[in-house]
Amino acid sequence: MKQEVQTVLVTGGAGFIGSAVCRHLVAGGGYRVVNLDKLTYAGNLASLRDIEGHPNYAFHRADICDAGAIRQILATEKVDRIMHLAAESHVDRSIDGPMEFVSTNVVGTVSLLSAALDHWRGLDAARQQNFRFHHVSTDEVFGDLPFDSGVFSEESPYRPSSPYSASKAASDHFVRAWHETYGLPVVLSNCSNNYGPYHFPEKLIPLVIANALDERPLPVYGKGANVRDWLYVEDHARALEAVMTKGQVGESYNIGGRAERTNLEVVETICALLDARRPRSNGKSHLDLIAFVADRPGHDRRYAIDPTKSERELGWRPQETFESGLAHTVDWYLENGWWWRPIREQRFDGARQGLVGAQ
Ligand code: NAD
Ligand code: DAU
Repeated sequence: MKQEVQTVLVTGGAGFIGSAVCRHLVAGGGYRVVNLDKLTYAGNLASLRDIEGHPNYAFHRADICDAGAIRQILATEKVDRIMHLAAESHVDRSIDGPMEFVSTNVVGTVSLLSAALDHWRGLDAARQQNFRFHHVSTDEVFGDLPFDSGVFSEESPYRPSSPYSASKAASDHFVRAWHETYGLPVVLSNCSNNYGPYHFPEKLIPLVIANALDERPLPVYGKGANVRDWLYVEDHARALEAVMTKGQVGESYNIGGRAERTNLEVVETICALLDARRPRSNGKSHLDLIAFVADRPGHDRRYAIDPTKSERELGWRPQETFESGLAHTVDWYLENGWWWRPIREQRFDGARQGLVGAQ
């Protein structure tokens, strides 16, 4: 029997992870993808160039805070499932201006939940049964781990440290409340740090690659000892499909690549990859560009995800190691200046390119 094509609404589909999800689902063939995105500074339709003319792909520019617009899109596009990724995502921006994070991540999620609930209530029984609201969240809701012990499980207490992680924690609570109170079939996932192609060059890995190629300082906060747990973005996209299709209603799933590295190790590995691929004209290593700068306030020391539940219940495993994924990523930035150079030149302030604050 021919399998029915499901219509999936992806919010934030013009962002880093959302665009990977759109490309992944369209390539798989079993989905019609409706991308809903406000196109903030972080949204970029150039990331969807590979699928923009595909018959199973549509785009709507809309704000998740606009429940009326969302209701209309859910109805006219006959949406079967929602994957909610739209958010303000950069911790440093949340420290400089928290209100935008409350507005999009908290109020926007609640507005989307309200529209989704109305839509779900109007579906017939079979489509109601099949419907999912998949909320894409972060390991940062669990807060700070000591350097030498502990991992985040699905049962870890919420202890967010930054305005960004507090806003994501609040949104997780609202999603669970819409399940417990109104019966909306939700599923959640909390993932570790992603990296890969189309990553906005204000985040550590793409910033360091772009600055190194431009002979600019590579800003490392504090001593570079903080630890993050890295996952290649396409592995995350595959995990998200598994959560949406196989995850149990009301449950959450931790996603991570068991790839903990200090920030300094990450930066040094990028320098070594670039030294081999694009040696500097002065003959020195890119390591010479590293600049230790003022630390991030409230900087969580370490994140580490225990992905056992996702591995066991969803049968998901990452395909890339940190070494293979980082090499692909460096190669992608070397070959795709058309994507990241205009962002740096037109839409990006100097403070976020590591040009200020060097100690
Ligand atoms: P991103 O900043 O690259 O993209 C966010 C997208 O959301 C952009 O396209 C933006 O235009 C859109 N958006 C913002 N506000 C909106 C609004 N009000 N209405 C509609 N669209 C809006 O973010 P990302 O790194 O791709 O992260 C996507 C999601 O995954 C976020 O919810 C984030 O919390 C979560 N997450 C990210 C990571 C990571 O390492 N990047 C890890 C775990 C979880
Ligand atoms: O853990 C998941 C989270 O990962 C996501 O929820 C966030 O949306 C995503 O932005 C990311 O948050 P981080 O704060 O960990 O990512 P970022 O790339 O900003 O920083 C990674 C580490 O590198 C962090 O310890 C801070 C440090 N850093 C960052 C920048 C931008 C530097 O040392 N120098 C820098 O210039």
